[in-house]
Amino acid sequence: MAILAQTPPMGFNTWNTFGENISEQMLMEITDVIVEQGYRDAGYKYVVIDDCWLLRERDEDGNLVPDPAKFPHGMKYVADYIHSKGLKFGMYSCAGVRTCAGYPSSFDHEFQDARLFASWGVDFLKYDFCNFPKYANCKHRYLTMAQALRASGRDILFSACNWGVEEPWNWMRSIGAHMYRSTWDIFDNFPSTVGIMNNQFNNFNANAAGCFNDMDMLTVGMNGQGNVANSENCNTYTEYELQFAYWCFCGAPLMMGADLRKVGDEYRTLMQNKELIRLNQDAECRPPYRVREDNGYHVFIRHLADGEFALGIFNLCDNTRTAECIFAEMGIPVGSGVKVALTDVMTGEEIAPKRDDHYPQVPAHSFKIYRAKCVMA
Ligand code: GAL
Repeated sequence: MAILAQTPPMGFNTWNTFGENISEQMLMEITDVIVEQGYRDAGYKYVVIDDCWLLRERDEDGNLVPDPAKFPHGMKYVADYIHSKGLKFGMYSCAGVRTCAGYPSSFDHEFQDARLFASWGVDFLKYDFCNFPKYANCKHRYLTMAQALRASGRDILFSACNWGVEEPWNWMRSIGAHMYRSTWDIFDNFPSTVGIMNNQFNNFNANAAGCFNDMDMLTVGMNGQGNVANSENCNTYTEYELQFAYWCFCGAPLMMGADLRKVGDEYRTLMQNKELIRLNQDAECRPPYRVREDNGYHVFIRHLADGEFALGIFNLCDNTRTAECIFAEMGIPVGSGVKVALTDVMTGEEIAPKRDDHYPQVPAHSFKIYRAKCVMA
């Protein structure tokens, strides 16, 4: 078996934009865009179908059946196409008796469904938590699917999605998941992004190679269009930039949710930002550590594999803040005489080595991220 998810998984998922309006053709077009517009080369590799891909009932052998109106050539055909483009294919099922949208799901069919997915060439399974029987045990059922996937004969990344029930950061890694949702669903507006950020600050401690805390799919570039969006209150460009930067900084999986056929150049450039993705994919996979919170702005550091550290300031307030970044709070006491050299990852601006502190102005709903290193006096 290959070792999966050595760094946070990256890809695309249909739910945020398409909801139940999914089809073979749309998926193949998105696949083409991922290749032709540089997303694959930037690191995105999983093309994932979410809920609503199947018929309302299993067949006489008890197998799940793709909806022929949406997927006329079946799932292997889609998988083959995605694989032919050098990408990986993701599917969706649910630990309950029905998916959230009411389709059959994998409760008590785990091994059968995992074998079927493997026979289609599936590389990734998102596994939801709707309609879960009251008498059943959540941890045990995610464990059962993990075993089923591992016994399926294919390397299938296990993307658990139980919305944070029973503190998954304490057990999803050990039952065998590669990533786990620990929040409710994201919507394409700033309060939703902030709500997720605010309840996630402490949930990254279990992040390490092999299993990652998932803050849900990105809404970057949706611009109020699609299943989880509303054109009246969508994010601004600055807010999308903050979302992408925060997901990257934390080492969260990066699953794009916008219609990639339509996103504007500025969003494509943002989601392919090399420095942010480099942070996200850092080989040491360390979680961020918060050193300061001051009425809505947050200062984090994150140690990196090359011995540098990232300094991230995220301003969730509605006004510009002067962020107090005090090096002593980051473990670099004044008395050490050590200076810190900073490079702004978005602009490339280098700030000459400083002692004691750095007080950047951070506009409303925006951020600053620096690569930082200690310079011995
Ligand atoms: C939710 C899940 C969403 C999406 C949806 C599909 O439970 O959190 O990400 O998968 O179900 O019905």
